[in-house]
Amino acid sequence: MARITAGVATSHVPAIGAAIDLGKTGDDYWAPLFKGYEFGRKWIEQSRPDVVFLVYNDHASAFGMDLVPTFAIGCGDEFEPADEGWGPRPVPNVEGCPELAWHIMQSVIQDDFDLTVVNEMTVDHGLTVPLSLMFGQPAAWPCKVIPFAVNVVVYPPPSGQRCYNLGKAIRKAVESFDEDLNVQVWGTGGMSHQLQGPRAGLINREFDRDFLQRIVEDPEGLAKMPHIDYVRQAGSEGIELVMWMIMRGALNEHVNELHRFYHVPASNTAVGHLILVNS
Ligand code: DHB
Ligand code: FE
Repeated sequence: MARITAGVATSHVPAIGAAIDLGKTGDDYWAPLFKGYEFGRKWIEQSRPDVVFLVYNDHASAFGMDLVPTFAIGCGDEFEPADEGWGPRPVPNVEGCPELAWHIMQSVIQDDFDLTVVNEMTVDHGLTVPLSLMFGQPAAWPCKVIPFAVNVVVYPPPSGQRCYNLGKAIRKAVESFDEDLNVQVWGTGGMSHQLQGPRAGLINREFDRDFLQRIVEDPEGLAKMPHIDYVRQAGSEGIELVMWMIMRGALNEHVNELHRFYHVPASNTAVGHLILVNS
């Protein structure tokens, strides 16, 4: 039986990817940020996931106004990094896990969540930056990845409650897959940031710190927070944090927190990172 062993949450700021690709991780600006990921880099070498179910959002790279799926699951064999304006990042292609992805898709749709199946798409910084933060710069990513894209760009996003419930359905699906696989669920994006409009540059440390605490200790209560509170308090792009609720819903109600890191700023964003394991 496949099982979900851990959840990882991390921001996915594109400038972090550029810092890695351009060899700037030791610069004064970046060094404190990358220090916060040293624990995770060591930990993941021990915990060795077979598959990462990676919850992220596409930023008008694979999807645009022509196609806006609320939840899209990558069922293909392989996904190439997107060209976001400077050429594709120099990172390996992502190897998918079609058998498990199709199984999850069938189970979750039968549990009343409508997913869009995507066999071909490119994957942008939302997915590749978290892989780089956790795995560094290998010639090939060390595990399979199921890309799971959530719309948080075109109004309305799914609610935190729906995302949390979806996480539970994903867990049920994984646990009914008849192969012995170590699966991690990652939730990416956030924390507080707003990239446009009069509030551009918004950071809300108090909200972020509270969110980090509540997602560990009181996910049921946090799930009730309406989407507009994310936007008001964490900024228009802070809504990306609903994706962390999918990760959290896929874990036990009580988890062991192995690592917590919070850093301001990276580019325009407050960076948060958690590693949670099922106790
Ligand atoms: C930034 C952060 C994001 O999450 C993103 O998708 C794009 C840019 C930033 O802080 O620059
Ligand atoms: Fe983003």
